[in-house]
Amino acid sequence: MGFYTRSSSQARVAWVLLLLCSCTLLIRAHGGGSRKLYITYLGDVRHGHPDDVVASHHDMLGTLLQSKEESVASMVYHYKHGFSGFAAMLTQDQATRLAEFPEVISVKPSRRVRTTTTRSWDFLGLNYQSSHTPASELLQMSNFGEDVIIGVVDTGIWPESRSFSDVGYGPVPSRWKGECQTGPDWGINNCSRKIIGARFYTAGVPDEYLKRDSLSPRDHNGHGTHCASTAAGSAVGVDGEAASFHGLAAGVARGGAPRARIAVYKSIFAGYGDSATVLAAIDDAIHDGVDVLSLSLTVPYENSYGALHAVQKGITVVYSAGNDGPRPQTVEDTSPWVLTVAASKIDRSFPTVIELGNKQQMVGQSLYYQVKNINSSSHTTSSFTKLICARSCVPRHEVLHEIDVKGAILVCLNDNDAINPSDDFAHAAKYVVEGGGSGLIFAQYTTDALSSTVAYCPGIACVIVDIYISRRICEYAMDTSSPTAKIEPTRTVMSKDVLASKVASFSSRGPSADYPAFIKPDVAAPGANILAAVGDSYVTKSGTSMAAPHAAGVAALLKALHPDWSPAAIKSAIITTAHVTDGHGMPILAEGLPRKVADPFDYGGGNINPCGAAHPGLIYDIDPHDYNKFFRCANVKEGISAFASCDTTSMPEYNLNLPSISVPDLRSAITVSRTVTNVGELHSVYHVAVQSPTGVKMEVFPDVLVFDAANKVRKFEVKLSPIWNLQGGYTFGSITWQNDRQVVRIPVATRITIQDFYADVA
Ligand SMILES: *[C@@H]1O[C@H](CO)[C@@H](O)[C@H](O)[C@H]1NC(C)=O
Ligand SMILES: *[C@@H]1O[C@H](CO)[C@@H](O)[C@H](O)[C@H]1NC(C)=O
Repeated sequence: MGFYTRSSSQARVAWVLLLLCSCTLLIRAHGGGSRKLYITYLGDVRHGHPDDVVASHHDMLGTLLQSKEESVASMVYHYKHGFSGFAAMLTQDQATRLAEFPEVISVKPSRRVRTTTTRSWDFLGLNYQSSHTPASELLQMSNFGEDVIIGVVDTGIWPESRSFSDVGYGPVPSRWKGECQTGPDWGINNCSRKIIGARFYTAGVPDEYLKRDSLSPRDHNGHGTHCASTAAGSAVGVDGEAASFHGLAAGVARGGAPRARIAVYKSIFAGYGDSATVLAAIDDAIHDGVDVLSLSLTVPYENSYGALHAVQKGITVVYSAGNDGPRPQTVEDTSPWVLTVAASKIDRSFPTVIELGNKQQMVGQSLYYQVKNINSSSHTTSSFTKLICARSCVPRHEVLHEIDVKGAILVCLNDNDAINPSDDFAHAAKYVVEGGGSGLIFAQYTTDALSSTVAYCPGIACVIVDIYISRRICEYAMDTSSPTAKIEPTRTVMSKDVLASKVASFSSRGPSADYPAFIKPDVAAPGANILAAVGDSYVTKSGTSMAAPHAAGVAALLKALHPDWSPAAIKSAIITTAHVTDGHGMPILAEGLPRKVADPFDYGGGNINPCGAAHPGLIYDIDPHDYNKFFRCANVKEGISAFASCDTTSMPEYNLNLPSISVPDLRSAITVSRTVTNVGELHSVYHVAVQSPTGVKMEVFPDVLVFDAANKVRKFEVKLSPIWNLQGGYTFGSITWQNDRQVVRIPVATRITIQDFYADVA
């Protein structure tokens, strides 16, 4: 979400931050306790009218259950627009028998999905117009994305937010075929020229969750509103009141494509959603005519055919990579046809000054704000109060039980024994709040998720510091007879003063466990401490959930600028132009233990660069039907293919024309081929620059590509030969086609394999 600020102003308040819920597979019992929701996939739609598709589903299920009534009673969703299939309540035995029907490609249980932001757009070079600067060329040329429709599959939307104002918008694009479903707190007027469609999917969601949410597209959680306003929120704060979180991160809030239209698909209710509801949303979105689908959720064992059918219909599908970093192999939603987005940090910081009784000042990070006009003095620590240092705040060490924190600021030294620092933070904050304390200073190696300093700290000041600072504060506390400290409200610092570009530690890392032959994630986008709309106000959140809508907003602008580009072309432009160094030429780092220079398993091609992506020079395009060959016909039973045109000839996966090359088992020299299409100057010459992965010789033939009117598409080959006879982990390189105007870079990952007994995934 784009915010920038010159002024600091006050906004109204906040909702409690949503914490990314981490849920396990939930098996739902229904009617006798032994049935659960299964998704049956039947491939391409082969009947003309959706009603005929529905009838064919009932025929099939009726045959299985030997009753038409039973079929109607068990059916939960029909997938009938983008692909054919249905979700139904079945016993395991029924599911097994259904899988044996000749037309059935797969029957799989529905899995629970997880949901996994103002400065960020200026940081990316997408300036909005202001009194001193014009809007960036990309925004102007794409008409701010006005003709593009972004579908957001999430927890719904809050239509009253200023971010969804439709003032000044032209009519809804005539190709739109979506609906505005109403509910108790959602009238037909809640759809507008901005929110042009809204649907919700309650079928199959257990009552205990539905009871806690609205049966309408309305968002009571905040996650969906935050994501939608990040991708496509109208500009807020251009004149009048700036958007901010209690004055922090104040400025103009806006989406990446600020005039794009939003279509809402609410598939998560009170934290519950599953693959059946998400597939229903994707199927409808294909029918309705969205251009870009943004999914800030992870779907374990994703039913990736839903996204594949969408991509084959020209829809760019963007997923969040997940929040399970920095461990390797945690990236989710990794099919090669989607854009999988990692989270990076932007050039904004929230320094918070801690002053000790001896006048020494230390700086930490927080989102601590002072409530204005408050009567009680307990909330603020702006006067000196007692300082207590705890050896450990890890619950199982039980050190805290002995400490009386009343009126005091507690310091938690970093504990090498800590299993999960964020759980320990929550535990310590609760102890301080309940004990009537006034503040918490907590040592942690990363400040990625400052949201916790708000979420867990009602009425107290919480600050995250590094270990060096925590030790110095504790040294002071131990050497002084009555140590005191005070904590100042947080300030906001931006731009060149802050060393920016880092992949956030929580961002899930590659390689993909589902598709190891492809580099994932694809790209990184801002996802740490992002300010965007929640309800009627603006709140910062962190997660790859915030990164995915940034990429979706960029994809929407590219679609507006280049309406004829395929999803593969849009993805290629985003990956090949991404930054691998920051504005100072410093390599982008990846936070984690230890911090290191980022590699393609952290950020794919690099940090997203919207203005570069508008003019990529060359693109690696893919005929959407080529994906079928690489789907490994995974969903294939004897002789039946997932797609009418599924090609079972075993083409190596590394030949799929992606803007990246990954070879997880390089045993002997291989030749990889790629094709590039010139979308820049008609007459251009590109020279190759090769950076070989360590231990591998990489040669590119030819090393010069000449384009003209007759030759817009050129093929080249990449020969990869292991030099070392040494089994180990992945090493990384790149292939860059360049001239004096363009740099087109793709990442390369290789792992030499000699024997199968050992493989290192890191
Ligand atoms: C949305 O609909 C509700 C219920 O009909 C109404 O009270 C509310 O004012 C509407 N909001 C907008 C932005 O139109
Ligand atoms: C201040 O305290 C009074 C009396 O306790 C209360 O009525 C009032 O709402 C308080 N004001 C604020 C801003 O909290």
